[in-house]
Amino acid sequence: MCLELPRSTRLLTVKRGPADKKPTYHDALLEEKPLPILKTGQLLVKMNAVAFNHRDVGSAKVCVSRTSELRSPSSYGSVKANTPVLLLGVHSELTERYVAVERDQVIASPDHLDDEHLAAWPLAGVTAWRAAVVYANIQKGDNVLITGIGGGVALTALQICLARGANVFVSSGSEDKIKKAVGLGAKGGVNYRQSDWSATLEKLLVKEAGQGARVSVVIDSGGGDIMAQVGKVLKSGGKVVIYGMTASPKVTFTMREVLKNQQLIGIFVRRSPELN
Ligand SMILES: NC(=O)c1ccc[n+]([C@@H]2O[C@H](COP(=O)([O-])OP(=O)(O)OC[C@H]3O[C@@H](n4cnc5c(N)ncnc54)[C@H](OP(=O)(O)O)[C@@H]3O)[C@@H](O)[C@H]2O)c1
Repeated sequence: MCLELPRSTRLLTVKRGPADKKPTYHDALLEEKPLPILKTGQLLVKMNAVAFNHRDVGSAKVCVSRTSELRSPSSYGSVKANTPVLLLGVHSELTERYVAVERDQVIASPDHLDDEHLAAWPLAGVTAWRAAVVYANIQKGDNVLITGIGGGVALTALQICLARGANVFVSSGSEDKIKKAVGLGAKGGVNYRQSDWSATLEKLLVKEAGQGARVSVVIDSGGGDIMAQVGKVLKSGGKVVIYGMTASPKVTFTMREVLKNQQLIGIFVRRSPELN
């Protein structure tokens, strides 16, 4: 079949704005550019939906991307022959209408999800899977704390942990989001805006899982003082699997955690082999 290819593609870019304005916001622009020339083994993918996360929003605020293009690792598109596909890796050009990708970076997508829901999987879905399954190895009956449950990765992790039979506790800055998480199957939640949230969590654990119950895994997107906060409720040898820094880009790790054999495990997703 002979396919009609477009001559150009459109690209969403961020242009550096004047630094004298506070706060500095940079402009998002749509630009037209020639279609990429395909190399052997590459496919031309039309992007139907792209997921943005905090890093991309940050790009628009502080222009962190050196290429001045938005970088978005989570993507979904369809090859020209109309085969729906998921893209597996991080591509700096994902905010283009058409992108050239290596054949092994594309897999067929499932039928039951629409474009927008599919776009969440390569990054949010794989991060949640890697945290809950690959690194934490959540098992039936485990007590798990997922922080910042309003987040996309956290919500996906909640559903994965529930499907594996864990007792899931959550934290959020919003009572409403805690209620929604409970509606999905969480045992309960605490508000991380309250300074004594870990003491509240300890009481909740006793109520739901019995005297002396401890959390065996924390799936965290906040960073900062998470180790100190969960110190009392995390069992000896327990794991904190961390993938974000919404509270702070630094995590404090002290001898207290060392003496309890507690582990801090970082996750960074650039490729998504788990989707294969
Ligand atoms: N390592 C990786 O490869 C990887 C992959 C994906 C994402 N990330 C990073 O992970 C983070 C979350 O990603 P996302 O896509 O899930 O973002 P998102 O959907 O925007 O969720 C962010 C959530 O962070 C929570 N939060 C804010 N301040 C917090 C605090 N002080 N303590 C605990 N939670 C807090 C909020 O939860 P509530 O609304 O419940 O208050 C908010 O909904 C971002 O920093 C993102 O860049 C990293």
